[in-house]
Amino acid sequence: MPICYHENSRTFHLYNDDVSYLMQVLPNGQMGQLYFGRKLRDREDFSYLVRTEERAMNSYTSEDRERRLSLQQVRQEYPSYGTSDFRSPAFEIEWQDGSRVSDFCYASHVIFKGKRKLEGLPAVYVEADGEADTLEITLVDRREGARMILSYTIFRDYGALARSVRIQAGGRGCRLERVMSLSLDLPDADFVSVQLSGAWARERYVKERRLEEGLQGVYSMRGASSSEHNPFLALRRPNAGERSGEVYAVSLIYSGNHLELVDVDHNHVTRLLAGIHPDTFSWKLEPGAVFQSPEAVLVYTDRGLNGMSGIFHELYRTRLRRGIWRDRACPIIINNWETTGCEFTEEKILELADTAKSLGVEMLVLDDGWFGDRENDWTGLGDWYVTNFQKLPHGIAGLAEKVKERGLRFGLWFEPEMVNKDSRLYREHPDWILQVEGRFASPGRNQHVLDFSRQEVVDYIYDAMEKVLGSADISYIKWDMNRYITECGSAAYPADRQGELFHRYILGVYSLYERLIARFPEILFESCSSGGSRFDPGMLYYAGQTWTSDNTDAVERVRIQYGTSYVYPLCSMGAHVSDVPNQQSGRITSMATRSNVAHFGVFGYQMNLTAVTDSEKEEIRRQIAWEKEHRDLIRCGRFYRLRDPFRENTGAWLVVSGDRREAMVGYYQIYREVNTGWDFLKLEGLDPDMLYSVNGGVQVSYGDELMNLGILLDQERFGIAKEDYASIILHIKAV
Ligand code: DGJ
Repeated sequence: MPICYHENSRTFHLYNDDVSYLMQVLPNGQMGQLYFGRKLRDREDFSYLVRTEERAMNSYTSEDRERRLSLQQVRQEYPSYGTSDFRSPAFEIEWQDGSRVSDFCYASHVIFKGKRKLEGLPAVYVEADGEADTLEITLVDRREGARMILSYTIFRDYGALARSVRIQAGGRGCRLERVMSLSLDLPDADFVSVQLSGAWARERYVKERRLEEGLQGVYSMRGASSSEHNPFLALRRPNAGERSGEVYAVSLIYSGNHLELVDVDHNHVTRLLAGIHPDTFSWKLEPGAVFQSPEAVLVYTDRGLNGMSGIFHELYRTRLRRGIWRDRACPIIINNWETTGCEFTEEKILELADTAKSLGVEMLVLDDGWFGDRENDWTGLGDWYVTNFQKLPHGIAGLAEKVKERGLRFGLWFEPEMVNKDSRLYREHPDWILQVEGRFASPGRNQHVLDFSRQEVVDYIYDAMEKVLGSADISYIKWDMNRYITECGSAAYPADRQGELFHRYILGVYSLYERLIARFPEILFESCSSGGSRFDPGMLYYAGQTWTSDNTDAVERVRIQYGTSYVYPLCSMGAHVSDVPNQQSGRITSMATRSNVAHFGVFGYQMNLTAVTDSEKEEIRRQIAWEKEHRDLIRCGRFYRLRDPFRENTGAWLVVSGDRREAMVGYYQIYREVNTGWDFLKLEGLDPDMLYSVNGGVQVSYGDELMNLGILLDQERFGIAKEDYASIILHIKAV
C-alpha cells in the first residue's frame, strides 16, 4: 500500500490493491489531479495527462508561448477561483487588501505510516500503523506567506481515501470564505448522481439524477446535517447497479451545514466538491492561526453500489465508531416514548420494566420528561439537575437502582443543546441562546438552541449532565436534538466573527461529547435528532448508533433502512418494534413484519408491553431469543441490498457472516399480489462451492445456485402470509 513520489516528474501515486490516486505538481507549481479509479501499475511519469494546448477563450498561467497551461483545461487537486479557472472552487480566501486571488504552490511533502488525529473533529482512525499511509502536501502562497496542507490517507484494505485540509494564515492574517474538504475532477460526466434525501419521518430516500452541465448537488444550511440531505453523494456509471459497475462516492464526516456539489463544465469534466457549506461560513484567521477542515472519505469501486456500501460499512463500523461498545452488541432496549410520552410515573415505568424483563429485554430507556417541570414540550428543557419528584419520587438514582434490581440496565434521554423559555436555565441565562439582537428568535418545538459556540455554556451543560450521570447507574444515553438552527447569532462574538458560529456550534457539540465519553467510557451513546435528522458519520464517531427515524412503521422503515444502508452499517441504525396502528402512519402491520425489519438494525421495542396479549408475549419472547442468537451475525456480517423497495413492490436484503457459512435474508412485500409469475431472489456473497440449507431444509443448494439462479420465492413453500405487508426471514446455513 505505498505512496510513491517520483521526483523527476513530481508525481504522487497513492495505491493499494484496489485503487490508484495520481497527482502531479503542475508547471505553474500548483497541484494537478491526474487520475482516481481502479488500480494502475506504478510508473515514473503520467505527464501526458496535463493538457497544455492553446484554446479560444482560455487564459494562461504564464506568458511563455510554449507552455500554454490554462487551469480551466487541467484537472486540479484543490482549485481556486479568480485566475484561469472559472469553475466552482475548493476554497476562497479574502486577503487583507480585499482581493480573493490565491496562488498556492507546492513547497514540500511528508509521507508517514498511519494517520494523524484531527484536533476537535471526528475522523476515521487506524489502530496499527500498517493499516494506512498518509501523505501531507504543503503548499505556500508566496505573496501572503500563508500555508495550506492537503492531507490524504489511503487504507490498506479499502478502496477509500480520507482527505482533509489545514490552512495557516501568513503574517497579515486573512478571512476564509470557503474551505471544502475535498475536490475531485473526473474527466467525463457520464454519471448518475445518487443522493440520500428526504425529511422528518422519511429520511434518506434514495434519489438519482443524470448529470448535465452546470451545478447539481445536496446541502444543509439547517445547522445539522439534516434529514433533508445526508452529507453523501455518489456518482455511478449509468450501467452500474448494486452488483457491478463503477461508483465514486464521497461521505463527509461532519454534522453541521454541508455542501456536496457537482459542477460539470463545458468539456464535461465533472468536479465533485464536499465540505462545510460556504454560504453559512466564514472564518477569520489571525496571523499564524490555523483552520482545520472536516474530513471527507472518498471511495471508488467497480463493484457497484453494494461494493461502495461494503467499504463504508467496514470503515465506519470498525474505524470511525469508537469505545467499548464498538465491538459489542447493544442490549435489547425497551423505550417508553411511544407508550407514555412525557406522562409517566415511576410505577408505570417499573411495570414496563417488569414485563420487559420477563420477555428477555436487557435495558430500559427512560425518554423525555424526567427532569424539571417537564409536563409537555413547552417546559423544563435545560433543567437537567432538577429532578421531577412528582413523577419520580426516588429521583433518577432511585429509579435506576430499581431497574437494576430487576436485572435490566438503565438508559436516559437528554437534549443537551436546547432550552425552553419556561425553564430555570433560561430565566437565569436568557442570553445563552443563539439569537440576533433586535430580531425575533424563532421557536421550534417550543424551544431554543443554546449557544454552544460559548465555552461557558458547554461547561454548564457538561456539569449538569456529569452530575446526573455520576449520581446514578446509567448505561446508555439517548442524545436528542429536536430543532434546526435559526437566527444564528451570538452575544459572545464580535461582528467579524459571527460567520463562524455554525461551525463553532458543532465544535461545541463535539467537545461536549468528547468530555462525557472520556469521563464515562462505559456509557453507550445513541444520537438522535427528531429521529434521523443528524444521522451522519460525524455523530457516529461519538455515538456509535443513531435513532434512524421517528417513523417506526415497518413498511416505511424498509425504505428508510434501505436508503440509510448506502453509507451506514446496520450496527449504527436504531430500529424498534412499535405498537399498531403505527403512531406516525396509522398503518397496521403484523408483529412478525415489525420485528423482521427491526432485526436488521439495533433491535429494541418502543411499545406498551404491559398491554400485549399472552400470545403476543410469546411471540415477543421468540423474537428476543432470535435476536440474541443472531445479533452478532447482523452486527458484523457483510450486508447486501437485493431488492429495491423504492422501485418494486418488494424489498430484500442479506447479511452474510465473515466465514460465509451463515446468512440471513430479510424479504418484505408491500402489497400481496395473486396469480404471480416466477420470483427468484438472487443472493450474494455466499461461497459458490458450499452447500447451504435454507430455513432448516426447505431448500438445500450450493452457493452458486443460490446466487446465480436464486431462491424461488414460492409463497406456499416459505409460508409467506397471505396479506399485505407480509415478510419472511430466510436463514441460510452451511450443511
Ligand atoms: C424525538 C425523538 O426522535 C423521539 O424518539 C423522542 O425521544 C422525542 N424526541 C422526545 O421528545
